[in-house]
Amino acid sequence: MSQGGETPVRLLIRDLSQVAAPAGRSAPLRGKALRSVDLVENAFILCEDGRVADVGPMARLGPLADDVVELDGHGLSAVPGLVDCHTHACFAGDRVEEFSLRAAGATYEELHAKGGGILSTVRATREAGDENLAAALSLHLSWMIRAGTTTFEAKSGYGLDRETELAQLRAIRNAGGVPTWLGAHAVPPEYTGADSYVEFLIEDVLPGAAQLAEAADVFVERGAFDVDQARRVLSASRKAGLELRLHGDQFTEAGAIPLAIELGARSVDHLESTGRGGIEALSDSAVVGVLLPASALFLGRPMPQARELVDAGAAIALATDFNPGSAFCESLPLVCSLAATQLRLAPEEALAACTVNAAHVLGRADRKGRLASGFDADIVLVADPDWRHLAYHLGGDVVHTVIQGGRIASTARA
Ligand code: NIG
Ligand code: FE
Repeated sequence: MSQGGETPVRLLIRDLSQVAAPAGRSAPLRGKALRSVDLVENAFILCEDGRVADVGPMARLGPLADDVVELDGHGLSAVPGLVDCHTHACFAGDRVEEFSLRAAGATYEELHAKGGGILSTVRATREAGDENLAAALSLHLSWMIRAGTTTFEAKSGYGLDRETELAQLRAIRNAGGVPTWLGAHAVPPEYTGADSYVEFLIEDVLPGAAQLAEAADVFVERGAFDVDQARRVLSASRKAGLELRLHGDQFTEAGAIPLAIELGARSVDHLESTGRGGIEALSDSAVVGVLLPASALFLGRPMPQARELVDAGAAIALATDFNPGSAFCESLPLVCSLAATQLRLAPEEALAACTVNAAHVLGRADRKGRLASGFDADIVLVADPDWRHLAYHLGGDVVHTVIQGGRIASTARA
């Protein structure tokens, strides 16, 4: 969209070796459609007023108006801007100390049970104040954009009191993110049990959270919240107008998939412990399974059964889970590499999972995640003529330039 009375910006990216984007218009993509990519070689992309106006072979490029800014795509390829549909990017401090303890043998769940883990980030986030929190989020966001993320979701869940939960949601909104309310992330130390905390969440936090967030999420897990508690939070959230998400089957199968299906949630995320029954149930449903292989890798946990999910017909998305404890990783290209090397997904499937399907989880598949005319001009230029280097280059400097709304948001350092 052109911004208030400014001259419309027209950007032409020319002489791209390839433009690759998920085919068709429907979302979410499943089964064989997940690997169906439209490929244009020796191509251009024309952006107007923040939207894609045209994509095609250079041979079809007609005469251009004088006001078009040109970008040389020689030696590069283009894919849609990446959509990170599951992050906890709004946090203060870090957990490098805990990371070192885990490297020496402590487990994530043990640290959490001792009041560390999520609760140590809660202490840092409560103390930060609005300004420092916004600065921390903006730093994390600068890393994400450099890695090719043009649309991001981020959750609260490091406040666990009314003021800090709402401050997190506000910071995420102000930074241009899609805010998800994760008040039910852990039980804070002021509460002796999860039930009274759930009551507080519904009575005191939800009314404000519903004004700021697009969705509500609950961590369904032993030591966190059980299915009944999750149902209470999520049903009340739905009544308040929010979409629903769940953290489920990370360490144990505690009923998150059936609950997500029962409530018509947009997604159930993690699924490292999901068995055959869960795979089948998800495949017969409209709920998207959001897979977070960087988190499984970071915690040394089993990878989710991605191949089985896709082959059974489930809709999947990929995300980073960027957070200070279980996935200090902002890079969707790295997640695509993990998808190809650990989850047995083709690069085409990985691409669809972190573009169109992730956009669907965020309710934005009509304008994000594809490169067709009318879609937002969010584009990643990959630093190789073959776009599959996005997944192939493990941890490499593979993102050359990032375009957001038709403007350059980040470009390769010299
Ligand atoms: O998705 N598992 C719950 N929440 C996050 C981790 C948050 C943290 O460790 O700070 C996750 O992995
Ligand atoms: Fe998470």
